[in-house]
Amino acid sequence: MEKLLEVKDLTIQYDNKNYAVKNIDMDINYKEIISIVGESGSGKTTLVRSIINLLSPGAKIISGEMIFCGKNIQKYHKEQWRKLRGNEISMIFQNPGSYLNPIRKIGKQFIENIRSHRDTSKIQAVKKANNILGKMGFDDGDRIMNSYPYQLSGGMKQRVAIAMAIAMEPKLILADEPTSALDVITQTQIANELMDLRNTFDTSIVIVTHNIGFAAYMADRIMIMHDGEVVEYDNKSKVILEPKSLYTKGLLQTIPELKGW
Ligand SMILES: Nc1ncnc2c1ncn2[C@@H]1O[C@H](COP(=O)(O)OP(=O)(O)OP(=O)(O)O)[C@@H](O)[C@H]1O
Ligand SMILES: [Mg+2]
Repeated sequence: MEKLLEVKDLTIQYDNKNYAVKNIDMDINYKEIISIVGESGSGKTTLVRSIINLLSPGAKIISGEMIFCGKNIQKYHKEQWRKLRGNEISMIFQNPGSYLNPIRKIGKQFIENIRSHRDTSKIQAVKKANNILGKMGFDDGDRIMNSYPYQLSGGMKQRVAIAMAIAMEPKLILADEPTSALDVITQTQIANELMDLRNTFDTSIVIVTHNIGFAAYMADRIMIMHDGEVVEYDNKSKVILEPKSLYTKGLLQTIPELKGW
């Protein structure tokens, strides 16, 4: 079966000559949840940002190919990316505060976001925004739409950011540590909401996390990265119960609660 995304032999280097990502092969199936785990600096953010063509200016793709729904998206020009990003592939960032404009009400931002992607009336956009906020567990969408970001908690802001990311029903959501700034209860709530998404919209999701327990809870497959390379990429039970690399074994030993998983 055709894959949703195939990354082939991807190598990315920054100006300072650091190879952040080295010869990475990665495939994502339709409706699949992948977790990427690895210590700080292992290249997780660089990898996911490259998938949505949002690398920082100093980064250069040295080699590799990216095939999304059968199309080579690396050859896409600006206008094609404008159509793809937010529509077919969306990203959720670690800090929703950096994504939401602090001086504009949520509703205004949400409606503008929807109308920048779809030719739709304001009334329809409001309806859509409210509907999606409901799906993200808000039963008071109107209040949220009328709030400024500072009037919401960190977890609420992240759920709003996720609602915006899924508004166009993208085929792929990339989430870079979406819950690491949140408390454990909110983390679990957001994990469950993301897992529901794939059932509702058939979305594939890539979640970057430091927390292998969280990865094991959410993912179908886990990718372990170390020093820019993939050291393991397999079904979660394989990675957790029969890890191949010493590096993964070491990571697993740091979480006693996974024993007996
Ligand atoms: N803008 C940049 N300029 C130069 N080097 C960078 C830049 N961003 C990242 N790097 C380097 O690339 C490597 C991978 O960084 P990256 O941010 O992808 O790691 P990460 O796994 O996301 O880390 P963390 O868990 O801390 O978020 C590191 O060596 C880092 O120093
Ligand atoms: Mg990162």
